[in-house]
Amino acid sequence: MASGTATAPLAGNPFAQDVDERLPPASTLVLFGATGDLAARKLLPAVYDLLADGRLPERFRLLGVVRGGMDDEAFRARAREAIAAHARRPLDERLWEALEPRIGVVAGRYGTPELYEALAARLEAGDREDGEPSQRLFYLAISPAFFADTARDLCEAGLGRGADPPTRLLIEKPFGRDLATARELNAAIEASFEERQVFRIDHYLGKETVQNLLVLRFGNGIFEPLWNRTAIDHVQITVAEDLGIGHRAGYYDRAGALRDVIQNHALQLLSLVAMEPPASFDADLVRDEKAKALHAVRPLDATRDAVRGQYAAGWLGGELVRGYREEEDVPAASRTDTYAALRVEVDNWRWAGVPFYLRTGKRLPVRMTEIAIAFKPAPHQPFRSLDAPPPPNELVISVQPNEGATLQIAAKMPGTALRMRPVQMDFQYGTSFLRESPEAYERLLHDALLGDATLFTRADEVEAAWEVVDPVLTAWEAGGEPEPYAAGSAGPPAAGALLARDGRAWRSL
Ligand code: BG6
Repeated sequence: MASGTATAPLAGNPFAQDVDERLPPASTLVLFGATGDLAARKLLPAVYDLLADGRLPERFRLLGVVRGGMDDEAFRARAREAIAAHARRPLDERLWEALEPRIGVVAGRYGTPELYEALAARLEAGDREDGEPSQRLFYLAISPAFFADTARDLCEAGLGRGADPPTRLLIEKPFGRDLATARELNAAIEASFEERQVFRIDHYLGKETVQNLLVLRFGNGIFEPLWNRTAIDHVQITVAEDLGIGHRAGYYDRAGALRDVIQNHALQLLSLVAMEPPASFDADLVRDEKAKALHAVRPLDATRDAVRGQYAAGWLGGELVRGYREEEDVPAASRTDTYAALRVEVDNWRWAGVPFYLRTGKRLPVRMTEIAIAFKPAPHQPFRSLDAPPPPNELVISVQPNEGATLQIAAKMPGTALRMRPVQMDFQYGTSFLRESPEAYERLLHDALLGDATLFTRADEVEAAWEVVDPVLTAWEAGGEPEPYAAGSAGPPAAGALLARDGRAWRSL
């Protein structure tokens, strides 16, 4: 099916050439939750974009698991609509004609043995038709409440542990709602699939700039000698969103910002910043180092190290938006955090004494994710300058929306007097590479098809991240209220105080 035609690399631009064109073996992707939102907005478009990039194997099939009443034709029409609406590339009729007959459904009720028998039969029929066995990937785009049972049912149908042809299970957070339930879920899944078959998605790891963090750290000689407590003053990790919770109250009100973003995305970013260099980019070596960094986090004290907030009505983008408690389906007295900030210390040789400040929130003034490495100031200023010394160097890795990295340095302003100003050395993806980055789900689906688990979270990492936030969750659940902040503001005042106490301030949003 590999088309190879849709993306001729831009001639003459060495950065536009791909070096990794690994092609997965014959594969069938089985989508549970095939008619859901994630499938329509992300997964089906990602499949199409992979096809358009020539990254799908010749023998690729997509099977949607649907409730009764939908046949192959109806699902194909739905898939086409989703692709036309959400894929990065416009729908090309030639590519669609190649993909369409390879799409089908298995209809049935979750939890019934008939569904899994029908699935096994359809998988075998596909292999017979293609004349070779295909590996099977089960993507559970369904409520996490059904992860364990679905894994068990797949295993009972001979599609889990020890399956031949090989199978993989793809699941996306939330993995539990605290350490205890995460352990339970991991154990239940492990009863049906081996850990190496399980691909846990944190879509942040699929983002181009997040992977670039590893290249920046380990592909350059100049950063690593500075990447420690001797040169670094502190680190700020921000995942800010301007949107509210939309129609997701059912999920969000039980989760809150700490669970929804800090436990996974923000702590994943922290582990990539803090980890030791792995000996190689082997999936387990990388994940060993990430897990070690999370294990080194000093236990948090909710009163001292954590701040929670909840958005109240306010002005955002010229519009008056309502407060969290007025959102559709949110209880009027909800205590759910829509903002969370942590002060984290990584207790090891490299990071002793360097705080990592993490924050996330809904209804902040902008959508912006970044990692800022703040360096210590120069130890001595030899200049008799007119100005105060310039602010210290800062390396800011912008994950979104302006993907790139910026190093702030001091420069002399033109003129006869000695005046200093901070200036930016800037790298922007958009201008340096002349090509669009793939969507996170493209990268992750492709890696899962290839069996490369480097960018997926292992059970022990997930548990280590829960261990970090668990004491705060417990304290917050026991009582107290989140501090209100006006929609469109930078968050609750207590978050500012968390850094002010250390003589620091958040970067502006
Ligand atoms: C999801 C959270 O995991 O990440 C959402 O559940 C959040 O609440 C989203 O909006 C943010 O992802 P992105 O890619 O838009 O930064």
